[in-house]
Amino acid sequence: MTSSTTNKTILVTGGCGYIGSHTICCLLQELPDCRVVVVDNLVNSSMIALDRVAEICQLSEKDRKERLLFYQLDVCDKDALKKVFEKHATNGQRLDACIHYAALKAVGESTQIPLAYYQNNLVGTFVLLELCDEYNCHQFVFSSSATVYGAAEKMPITEDTQVGVGITNAYGRTKYMIEEVLKDFYKSKILKDDSTTNWSIVILRYFNPVGAHPSGLIGEDPNGIPNNLMPYVAQVAIGRREFLTVFGNDYDTHDGTGVRDYLHVMDLAQGHLSAIQYMEQKQNEQQASSDKSKGGLYVFNLGTGNGSSVLDMVKAMTKACGHEIPYKIGDRRPGDIATCYADPTLAEKEMKWKAERTLDEMCRDLWAWQSKNPNGFVEVAK
Ligand code: UD1
Repeated sequence: MTSSTTNKTILVTGGCGYIGSHTICCLLQELPDCRVVVVDNLVNSSMIALDRVAEICQLSEKDRKERLLFYQLDVCDKDALKKVFEKHATNGQRLDACIHYAALKAVGESTQIPLAYYQNNLVGTFVLLELCDEYNCHQFVFSSSATVYGAAEKMPITEDTQVGVGITNAYGRTKYMIEEVLKDFYKSKILKDDSTTNWSIVILRYFNPVGAHPSGLIGEDPNGIPNNLMPYVAQVAIGRREFLTVFGNDYDTHDGTGVRDYLHVMDLAQGHLSAIQYMEQKQNEQQASSDKSKGGLYVFNLGTGNGSSVLDMVKAMTKACGHEIPYKIGDRRPGDIATCYADPTLAEKEMKWKAERTLDEMCRDLWAWQSKNPNGFVEVAK
């Protein structure tokens, strides 16, 4: 038996990170009876993010103890993670659903230490799936990426576009491999249980998440030099870096610079809530019909469907921060493609999810975060 969406206990791995923390805000605010159990090894994230989430959601001390629980552990550590499942299985707070973010994610680093990426991202997922299976936590959302489409040529990208070909780095391949693992795992459940399973899996392929919670209390806090465009632009805007290097202006795009599908992290966060509700709805529909329950494995793009260039983003951020953002044109970055944007219609049709926030809102909220926290979460940790 699954509980209804509103009073679920939801395990969020990597919940102190950028997308995880924003998702937790959505869950706590929009599912007033839900409980969130966060596990995170804090290797690339901060506990302060959860304090800020509690502040945004106005959780009292008591609420926080009941609704936002935290365990510092690595999802590869099966014994430690099992203890969390066991504890919640026996204290009346059984884990109903899992949103899996915990992963290493630096593209450049993944080319230097690929084994660490394969080890961490794959093994962490195996351990988690084994425990979810054992403890009847059969609703699973996986944080995938548009990177699985490799160098797709036909835009916009639909979910049935070929995946796994032309991925240029180990990080991207871990996302692709995990998707394949999830498909095999789901198939095995149908076979084993004679076409009847209550396992539901949603794979969400993110395009380019940017921005922050509008409060400016949580946001992206990359370690070291940011790899991705908007965190870099934000650090130039605040004066932490001198100028942005635009990686090539000779692409076949409207201004020669790379085009991507940037979406507001709050829209993306909302997409996870939609995924949880969608799995629930599908299972309820199956139970109501006389069909055997098959659960389901679903794949959705999360993007806006609009492409913006590097220079479009610099312009939007200039408007948000109110001053020029210095940039220089440099060489292309190896492995980059000219254009990448989503066809997000399936997510809208099925999950009723649609990105609502504009480029200006993304930049406004990114600037609120960056200007209130010029050094990320570090400064307030003293
Ligand atoms: C990158 C990764 C992708 C990963 C995603 C995570 C590569 C090749 N791809 O995608 O695997 O899933 O991040 O969010 O690293 N740019 C600049 N100057 C910069 C940084 C970026 O001009 O300092 C340009 C890039 O050339 C690109 C655009 O900005 O055209 C966006 O770059 P980025 O934010 O790194 O995202 P992706 O390249 O889409």
